[in-house]
Amino acid sequence: MSARPDEAAGAVPDPSSPTDIEAIERRKADHLRLAASDRHQSPGAGWEDIHLVHDALPVTDAEDIDLGAELLGHRLRLPLVIAGMTGGHPMARDLNADLARAAERHAIAMGLGSQRAALRDPSVANTYSVARDVAPDAVLLANVGVSQLIDQRGERALGASELRDAVAMIRANALVIHLNYLEESVQPEGQRRARGALEAIAAAVRTVDVPVVLKETGGGISREVAIRARDEGVAALDVGGYGGTSFASIEAERAAAAGDMERARLGETFAHWGIPTPASVAACADVLPVIATGGLRSGLDAARAIALGATAVGIGRPMLQAAMVGDGALDRWIGAFEHELRTAVFLTGGRQARDLRSARRVVMGPTAVWLQHMTD
Ligand SMILES: Cc1cc2nc3c(=O)[nH]c(=O)nc-3n(C[C@H](O)[C@H](O)[C@H](O)COP(=O)(O)O)c2cc1C
Repeated sequence: MSARPDEAAGAVPDPSSPTDIEAIERRKADHLRLAASDRHQSPGAGWEDIHLVHDALPVTDAEDIDLGAELLGHRLRLPLVIAGMTGGHPMARDLNADLARAAERHAIAMGLGSQRAALRDPSVANTYSVARDVAPDAVLLANVGVSQLIDQRGERALGASELRDAVAMIRANALVIHLNYLEESVQPEGQRRARGALEAIAAAVRTVDVPVVLKETGGGISREVAIRARDEGVAALDVGGYGGTSFASIEAERAAAAGDMERARLGETFAHWGIPTPASVAACADVLPVIATGGLRSGLDAARAIALGATAVGIGRPMLQAAMVGDGALDRWIGAFEHELRTAVFLTGGRQARDLRSARRVVMGPTAVWLQHMTD
């Protein structure tokens, strides 16, 4: 993979054309470029507040530990999902191909970025479908945004056939509906109509013939929202909590570049908004199967998330960075993740990854307070 973050540099946002296809494609390229910079990383989700208690007498050999997970009816070799990130512009095709090959090699899952661009402009569908071409057996997750399920000013809602097209485009194993009202609030061209969102999600559940996953993108999901989603037939959550890549911060920079200083300020003011990922995992894990995404940076963070009840974890920016480096960086990152997770299970006396759920743990600092309030 030879693409570099600076290849997307120079893309100019066009807030006056919210439905313009080229504007969507430019925005996707902006997101790749800005996510690659350190400026838009939150200070952390608080994973380091969670201490798994050491077991000095493990009961099994480290190499015999089973790290597999069952997600949405599929067996993964590791409880790992490459978080949905991209598609819809030329650079995305190579990135998605590299990420999908890694998903296939390691028998893990992969999300695609929002398919809105391809549903509006079929000529870019191959930037998504390439993932299935190179990963015939991987668990692949289609992706649309909740705001596209509702009529917005200047853009009609996606219809039932378009939702089915998104799934068919990559022969997806599940459809992810992402929730990003924090980002839409800051984005100059953001879509902020939300009335009827839950009903639209329920309709999507009835429309597609694969499970539907509800996914936040930095704000986290509370227990109350998890219950409403479950009651409408949603199969799993990707809690997408605060602590990792910040789209409020990314959109603040895009707003400033577009001269919209009011939204730039809004994004900076809300840069630390959201339920931290650990608290969101703990709040939702007994409601629906949970993918923990948002600021996880190692296999030890994954072990902490599984201890709080997660079924699997989603990794965004580190995967993006590794794909951009190329030369085996994705395999090295996934290999290190596996080694770290295996070590955490071994040193807590487990035989398999899900034994972490009953591992003794000590939670300190602000994370302890969040957990207490979010799981009451
Ligand atoms: C460049 C980029 C683009 C993204 N685009 C999408 C998207 O289209 N749909 C979506 O559900 N999430 C999207 N995300 C959010 C990620 O799936 C993930 O939730 C987020 O990056 C937090 O994980 P991290 O802290 O490991 O990066 C995107 C993330 C990045 C970095």
